[in-house]
Order: sequence, then structure tokens, then C-alpha cells
Amino acid sequence: MTSLPKTRLEPTQIAPETFLIHDHQGEGTAPVCVALNSMVIRGREPVIVDTGEAINEEQWLVDVFSLVEPEDVRWLFISHDDIDHTGNLHALMARCPNATLVVNWFMVERMGGALTVPPNRWRWVGDGESLDVGDRVLQAIRPPVFDAPTTRGLFDPTTGVYWGSDCFATPMLTPAPDISEFDDEFWFQGIATFHQYIAPWLLLADDRRYQATVDRIAALDATVFAGTHTPAVLGRERVRWALEATRRSPSTTVAPQPDQAVLDEINRVLGTAA
Ligand SMILES: [Fe+2]
Ligand SMILES: [Fe+2]
Repeated sequence: MTSLPKTRLEPTQIAPETFLIHDHQGEGTAPVCVALNSMVIRGREPVIVDTGEAINEEQWLVDVFSLVEPEDVRWLFISHDDIDHTGNLHALMARCPNATLVVNWFMVERMGGALTVPPNRWRWVGDGESLDVGDRVLQAIRPPVFDAPTTRGLFDPTTGVYWGSDCFATPMLTPAPDISEFDDEFWFQGIATFHQYIAPWLLLADDRRYQATVDRIAALDATVFAGTHTPAVLGRERVRWALEATRRSPSTTVAPQPDQAVLDEINRVLGTAA
């Protein structure tokens, strides 16, 4: 793929001692781009949450280590084993001798031989379980929308930040650190569209049971939603809006996914048509 100029977003603070590491893809090749965030919680025992894509390794490590020293990193929490969440897992574990990798049994099974971190550096934390990181107890809670069976989000009761992994994903017109400049309708439609794309099972699920999973997240009373594919959702009002968009995602009409005609157009614009 042709190398295109990429907007650089420095890490941003979204809550006390809590930071988003930003990356994105699609800029310049599509009408919208997609965030590829990860998170740093700089508590007594610093926690990294997801690791972005391997293609961004160099910048990702610079960003992470601008916030925390490698030897201070105590935990690496992986929300699920998709490559846009595990891309720099090994790079991080190799540089952080005191880090424990927080995964679960099925993640390890699914990663198979691709995971070379030894078992004595793992911790298995499943949905509904918690992780004591010294000055706070983080809760692993599966988001309502997910595209891998291993998924758990992460709630920090001391800051009110909930990491939703792939949940609350939305396209961006331009790379943005938070959602504040988004048009409400564009955002609502974006969440519904991405939710249906990543979780087509939403259209098959019993709605009463699905809504109960949204209730579970609403009950956290989070003040910030963060995730890999969304700018930060800051404040209770926007959190409520994201929850409402999530509730209505299965019943919202969304645009079909791009097809071969779109790919032909991309190649025409890039001048790479056959
Ligand atoms: Fe995923
Ligand atoms: Fe993802």
C-alpha cells in the first residue's frame, strides 16, 4: 500500500493518571478512518490496556514509554486476541521485565503458537472477575458488543473509565482524540453501523437479553468510555448517548459494507488500478 501522510495524535489524558495512546487507519484511502487506540493507567502498578497494531510498533512504544518507564509496567491487559489489540504484545512484554500478561484461557488457546510469552508471566482473568493493581481493583466486564468470544472490557471504579474494547466503535471523518466535535447523528449512526459490522449476531440475539447486557454496563455509572475504535467518550451525557446508540444498534438501518466497486474506486483514486 502506498505510504500516505498520517495525522499524528499525541497521547491524551482522559481521566486522572489515565491516557489514550492513539493510532488510526484509513486516513487518505477512505471517506472515514478508524481509531486504533490503547490505554495506559499510571497507578501504583501501571497497567497497559491493549497494544495496537504491529505496523505502528515504533511509535506505539515511544508513546507508552513517554508515560511510564518500561521496568515500572506491572500489567498488560489484553481485551481479546484480535491482531489490532495484540500487535505489540510481544514487543511490550520483551521490554517490560516486571509485566504480567492478563489474558484468559481461551485467548491463549486461540493464539496458540503465536503467543511466546511463558505461562509463568500470565494471569487469567475472565468476565466478572477482578484484578487488584495495588491502589485500585479493576473489573473485567464483557461489553454488550464484541467480535471475539474472549472479550472482556475493563472498568476502573476509581476514575469511572470503562474500556469497551471493540464496543462503541465508530468511524471518524478525521482523526480525533475525543468525540466532542462529532455531529450527534453521525456518531449515533456510526456506532450502529460498526456494531452491526463487527457483531452481525446482534440481529439474531433476543433483544431482552441483549438489553440486559447494556444495563450491566449502564449500572457501572461510568463517566468515560474508551475503546480501541472510538475517540474518548467524555462525560455522563455522552456516555448516556453511546449507551443509547448501543441499545438501538440492532434495530437501526445501516449502510451495506463496501464492495468490489468501492475497491475499484479506491484503486482509481490511488492510481493503482490494474
Ligand atoms: Fe475485535
Ligand atoms: Fe478491534
